[in-house]
Amino acid sequence: MPSETGAGLSGTQRIYVTTPLYYVNAEPHLGSAYTILICDTIARFYRQRGYDTFFLTGTDEHGAKISEAAAAAAEPPKAYADRISAAFRATWEACGLTYDRFIRTTDQDHVRTVQEILQQVYDAGDIYFGSYGGLYCTGCERFYTEKELADGLCPDHQSKPTWIEEENYFFRMAKYQDRLRAALDERPDLIRPERYRNEVRAMLREPLEDLCISRPKARLSWGIELPFDDRFVTYVWFDALINYVTAVKELGPERFGALWPTANHFIAKDILKPHAIYWPTMLMAAGLPLYQHLNVHGYWTVNGDKMSKSLGNIVRPLDMQARYGMDAFRYVLLRESVFGLDADFREGALVTRINADLANNLGNLVSRTLSMQQRYFGGRVQPRIDVRPEDNALERAYDDAARQCDEQVRALMLSRALEAIWRATDHANKYIVETAPFTLAKDPAMLPRVGTILHILLDSLRVTAQLAAPFIPETSARIVTLLNLPPEALALPGPAWGEAFPAGHTVRAPVALFPRIEPHATT
Ligand code: MSP
Repeated sequence: MPSETGAGLSGTQRIYVTTPLYYVNAEPHLGSAYTILICDTIARFYRQRGYDTFFLTGTDEHGAKISEAAAAAAEPPKAYADRISAAFRATWEACGLTYDRFIRTTDQDHVRTVQEILQQVYDAGDIYFGSYGGLYCTGCERFYTEKELADGLCPDHQSKPTWIEEENYFFRMAKYQDRLRAALDERPDLIRPERYRNEVRAMLREPLEDLCISRPKARLSWGIELPFDDRFVTYVWFDALINYVTAVKELGPERFGALWPTANHFIAKDILKPHAIYWPTMLMAAGLPLYQHLNVHGYWTVNGDKMSKSLGNIVRPLDMQARYGMDAFRYVLLRESVFGLDADFREGALVTRINADLANNLGNLVSRTLSMQQRYFGGRVQPRIDVRPEDNALERAYDDAARQCDEQVRALMLSRALEAIWRATDHANKYIVETAPFTLAKDPAMLPRVGTILHILLDSLRVTAQLAAPFIPETSARIVTLLNLPPEALALPGPAWGEAFPAGHTVRAPVALFPRIEPHATT
């Protein structure tokens, strides 16, 4: 867990979070958005807890797949990559994501790092020249063994791989098979969840082949030139994986040394083999420590179908943002999926979720609390002078939520963390019904008790905003603004209950955080 092993000698806790580098042959969609939203949530979570965090995303721009896509668009590969990479960047920026660097595999520092590592591994004798024939899937940008194919087709793209036979450079991957097996035995959570670790162990029961890491320029020129032979470019996966090192190496040796061992890669199951086999063996050959965790999630379908241009069912993050708001989209993706398992996206289910959890549960808690505060006290927060057991019970419900939320996020169970927070908001809504401040307020003698109940509810809103901030950051910021507190009120740990609102503090009048959506308006 990052909290345990992410502590450096100085005592500072750190975490380095990465998304895959997205290929520039398609625009951002639900699938690419899901991984980056998880990473954004994780990065915000640790940042809020005072960790030194670094969050990386970017685009993967070399190789046959991109070269073919550029040719189909009748553009030179670099111009094409510039255009699509910019579209990714613009989308992620509009989504309010908090990455520290957007890396492109065409960036000069990356080209340099790839060439340095190639030269180092070549000098150490782990790269040799040879000839090889095999079945290649351009969609995956990798060779397949007969065994991995399903009826002779690539299992991911359902297309027939092409036979490629040529002279190339090879990385002695087989040499590292035993060391990789041992690493998986020693570190049971290196790859998580466990089902993917098991898949990798099964792959390692077969002898590993060496990895072909070059392409002759005569066939493919769109890539990083090998530093030791200018007739070849680097194989796109060997190039792209190194991005994870490039980005932190650029921060200087000290920060690199501290951050690199805390690397948490987030990917979907489609690219397990390159990340679980190629990458750790490459790191071993380059003399670098392995990443801390490879975190593997499942695949999203849309109404039960694979997303595809031909089916016309691609879900675009900016469309979702325009229709429902970014926080609602984030909330639903994170709440409706279990990390590691596949999930299905249905817009009808999204609307039901938004209405139930955001408009009704959270939205009502905010609006009822703030409107009573306004009605009975002109927004002025009252002292807690008459605290009763039901008040302490609500505080305890929030303490439980905070503890569970912490545990669940560290274990990547983001939906469970959200459930824990929403159990507390449920409790707060029931508390309003049971303590009935709206009835008590009819008796002027009971106003001090009403003031106390509302003070406790305002603290509930504050803590809800804190706990929910990594998941629905805009909403948390809005709640804190309504409470008339500074943005730092979201940092953890915050003040104790009863100590967040100075004497005479005034909160604002309510606004609807999430308007109810009429289900028929969506289909
Ligand atoms: N360029 C490589 C990765 C190189 S990393 C050094 C690549 N790119 S990709 O554009 O195809 O992105 C694949 C990733 O996008 C998946 O691993 C996942 O993170 C995300 N997803 C794409 N479609 C997805 C779904 N339908 N569902 C969930 N995630 C999906 O592979």
